[in-house]
This record gives sequence, C-alpha cells and structure tokens, in this order.
Amino acid sequence: MTTTALTAGRTTTGGATTARPRRHLLSSADLSREQVRELLDTAAEMHAVQKREVKKLPTLRGRTVVNLFFEDSTRTRSSFEIAGKWLSADVINISGKGSSTSKGESLRDTVMTVAAMGVDALVMRHSASGAAHQVSQWVDAHVVNAGDGTHEHPTQALLDAYTMEHRLGSLEGRHVAIVGDLTHSRVVRSNLITLRTLGAKVTLVAPPTLMPSGIRAWSERDGFAIGHDLDAVLPTADAVMMLRVQRERMSGGFFPTAREYTVGYGLTRARLDALTAANPDAVICHPGPMNRGLEIAADAADAAQSLVLDQVSAGVAVRMSVLYHLLAGSEGEDA
Ligand code: CP
Repeated sequence: MTTTALTAGRTTTGGATTARPRRHLLSSADLSREQVRELLDTAAEMHAVQKREVKKLPTLRGRTVVNLFFEDSTRTRSSFEIAGKWLSADVINISGKGSSTSKGESLRDTVMTVAAMGVDALVMRHSASGAAHQVSQWVDAHVVNAGDGTHEHPTQALLDAYTMEHRLGSLEGRHVAIVGDLTHSRVVRSNLITLRTLGAKVTLVAPPTLMPSGIRAWSERDGFAIGHDLDAVLPTADAVMMLRVQRERMSGGFFPTAREYTVGYGLTRARLDALTAANPDAVICHPGPMNRGLEIAADAADAAQSLVLDQVSAGVAVRMSVLYHLLAGSEGEDA
C-alpha cells in the first residue's frame, strides 16, 4: 500500500520523495482531490478487513491513539477506537465528563498533559469551533478533528463520500441535496467541501431560519445552490442527505413546531415516494443520530434506498485509512 495523502511528513510520488507538512486532519479543505481519492481508495482496502474473521493488521503496532471527546458521540468515537485497534494501535478513550476538565482544568492543560504521556495521535471532539486547530498548535502529536462545534467534521464527509460512491459510482456531476439544520451543522460544511472536491453538484435546502448567515455569498463563491423548497429539489437528486435538527444547540425558536418542520423539510413517506419515482437509484443518507419522525420518517430511514448503516460501516474503514496515512510513516509499506 502506498501513501500520497496525509503522510507524516513525507510523501512518495513516482519514486520521488518530497517534504510535506501534512500532519493533521483538521478541515476537509486541507485535502486535495488526489488526497481524498487516496484516502477513499485506502478505505476500500481497509473495508475488506471488516469482513475477515480476524480483523487485525499490524500496521500501527507500538503507536498510541487517544480519543479525546469533550462532546457526546456514539459513531465517531467507537469507530475511531475500532479503527485504531484493528490497526494494532493502543487506543485510549478520554471523555470530558470523566476527566479533570470537570474539576476546572483548562483545555490546554488537559491536552498538554495527555500529550506529555507520549501519544502519537489525538482524535478530538469539542463544542468550540476551531478547538482542534488550536490543539494542533500546542502538541507534537497528530491531531484529527472529530467534530469542532458548528465548524467541521472532515472524517464524516469522507465516509459519506465513500458510501455514496460505493452505491452511485463516481460523484462527478452527481446531484447531492443536503437538507435540514444547516446553521448548527459541522457535517454540512465538510460535506460541501469534499463533495465539491469530487465534482458533485450540491444544493443546500433549509428553512430561512436555519440557513447560516452569509450563505448567499458563500454559495456564489464556492459554486453550490441553495433553496427553501425541498419538493422542488428532490426530483433531480441522486442523493439526499438529511441533517439532524440540533435542538441542543438551539437557544431560540427556529421553527414554529416540530410538526411544521416535518411538513416543510422532513423526508416523509410521500417524499421518499416522490424521490424514488423520479430516480429509482437515488439514495438517502443521514450522518446520525437521527430524530425519527422529525427530519426523517422511519419509512425513509429504513428504506432500501437508505445508506445510514452503510455510512456507519464505512466510518471504520475511512478512519482506519486516516490513521494509517497519518501514522504509518513509512511510504510504500504493505499494510
Ligand atoms: N455522525 C456523528 O458524528 O455521530 P456521533 O455524534 O454519534 O459521533
């Protein structure tokens, strides 16, 4: 297996070794198309490990990965843990609630303390946008952004692209509609970047109250569409990504009632039927966790077109790929 993306300081391309500073994965914007391609191709190889009886590669033996989660997580934290373990790294989980941050320790003191133990990588989730970037300035370890506030979630975007490609083939020219609570979503920002990097057409759909400020200028600059009418967008979509309504980040009334939100922006049974009537091959994604009955009906979440569990499965493979490219260190090495 060769590495040309996210290497720990050097890369080999066509036999020539060049210096490169890529030590962290903080933003989807850090990745060129070539690098995304390499990560997804490696993920495909890693995915095969998932189907083996003995799910273990020796690749990261002797390396230590710390999952530092200051916000709740099921999918991201457990898949990074599984990914590290299947690559034979030692994996430690630290959560904000059980750590000395609950005694008032600062973020800097916590990460410096963990880093001083000699860890190789910090996988970090935090409620503050920019936290992973800040931490990367403090420590020598590789830092992976596992979700920072409403900013980014780059490994989610990679696993979403991997999952959609697996079902749809190349995303070049494909139309992906991302629907829902855009204001509070870090997934949308990373997905927009990665999907555009892979040549997909993207339309963001949300009620005006859940559109981030400055989105019109952003859409003109980065070449994506925005809309408020989900029923108008669905017939041309190859993939529909429903986003969770993040009630825990909402301090005011962003929509009148849950019922009205569902009527306007939920992927209901009727909308699932409209989607599949227009395009029988269209797929449905949701990064999870889902609010069933609010942004997505159970009929849609569990439909044959739903890739929700495929996304979870791909999460392990993609995170194995990311850890491999960051930590494996020696180019051209067989995994
Ligand atoms: N999609 C996602 O980040 O899920 P978790 O919060 O469960 O990690």
